[in-house]
Amino acid sequence: MLIPSPFTPGDLPRVLVGRAAERRRLADLLARVTAYGELAGPPVVLHAPRGLGKTTLLRDTEDRARELGFVTAWVACAKGSPMLTELAASVRRALIDAEVLDDRSTKRVLDTISVEFAIFGVGFSTEFARGAAPEVPTGAISSLERMLHEAAAAIRARGGAGLLVLIDELHAAPYAEVGVLLNAMQNLAGRRAENPLALMTAGLPSTPEMIMRAATFGERSEFIGIDRFDDADSRRVLEEPAQEEGVGWAADAISAGLDIADGNPYLLQLVGDSTWQAAAPRTGDTLELDDLHAGEDRMRGQLAAMCRARWDSASDLEQAFLGAMADYGEEIVPREHIATTMGRESRAISVPRARLIDRGVIEAAGRGRLRFTLPGMGAWIREYQRG
Ligand SMILES: Nc1ncnc2c1ncn2[C@@H]1O[C@H](COP(=O)(O)OP(=O)(O)O)[C@@H](O)[C@H]1O
Ligand SMILES: [Mg+2]
Repeated sequence: MLIPSPFTPGDLPRVLVGRAAERRRLADLLARVTAYGELAGPPVVLHAPRGLGKTTLLRDTEDRARELGFVTAWVACAKGSPMLTELAASVRRALIDAEVLDDRSTKRVLDTISVEFAIFGVGFSTEFARGAAPEVPTGAISSLERMLHEAAAAIRARGGAGLLVLIDELHAAPYAEVGVLLNAMQNLAGRRAENPLALMTAGLPSTPEMIMRAATFGERSEFIGIDRFDDADSRRVLEEPAQEEGVGWAADAISAGLDIADGNPYLLQLVGDSTWQAAAPRTGDTLELDDLHAGEDRMRGQLAAMCRARWDSASDLEQAFLGAMADYGEEIVPREHIATTMGRESRAISVPRARLIDRGVIEAAGRGRLRFTLPGMGAWIREYQRG
């Protein structure tokens, strides 16, 4: 019988590998709510380029929180869409599902608040821009505060652990709404014992700066950067899902896979999936280097589409910057080389550099050095520019 691929490029992993320190820290914060019935501490912000496993960690935390008796509300932000009305709707839905919302007064508070956010929401669509702090309507802060308090207290009163709010893609939220959220959390922290709740968020590398600028105390948030996997964990991402189906990997196939993915969790899943599709293995089989090569076209096609999307979203100046990086031909590129190739002073390239880092296209790799966050992007650009 054909075994469907156990690999999950772009989806939650079947086998969650690594992230022990991060998972322990997130579990500690949940334990604080469970044990003391109080606020979990400052908001958590997971930050990294795409494909490194932020959503996976948030979902894993949500699963564990539910097991501990939390009611959870999830919001995925999108450019140009309001976050707070979504959040209000998500909290409301979660309370209904958990059968907490038959309490009339809680219901009334939540109903009013959804309407209030819809009103405050007008003019909330501003994106994060460096420099200015957002204008934050105080009415919206107290509404959100009231909503989170009422929900968390109602859950606790019915024997639940508390409320866990999870916000993914926070970088895409309207800037002023992030200000409202942080202010509300800060006020709730002033009465921590009455507010059994936790806020955990994730976003691109621009998120920490956005938060620090959206409110002065934003810097007290807990920022957790998510890194690429080391070789040991990378190997487990390839081996463990296959192992569960009784399928092995040849040593040379594994090391070719590790070379391609370079620790990027998404690419590891993609390598595993493409190899699996090409091999169509049965229980007891081994995935060979030939299988990996046979799956490589499909894999490269997918990788090319991702490079293309990143390239197309870059401005002319940013493309010149990326082109200069690719031109170096090695993975880690000294900043000097980029400036020289672009015919500018090193200082004069800091704007495109910062923007590309914010969007997770490139990242720092030691002092004065940069690399692409997507392994293989340099090669793709070289090929693309040759036409
Ligand atoms: N801890 C992990 N173990 C195994 N695979 C993972 C892990 N974290 C992420 N992945 C895989 O990597 C890809 C990207 O994960 P995701 O959580 O969507 O990243 P992000 O939210 O940072 O863009 C997915 O295909 C997922 O299956
Ligand atoms: Mg994600």
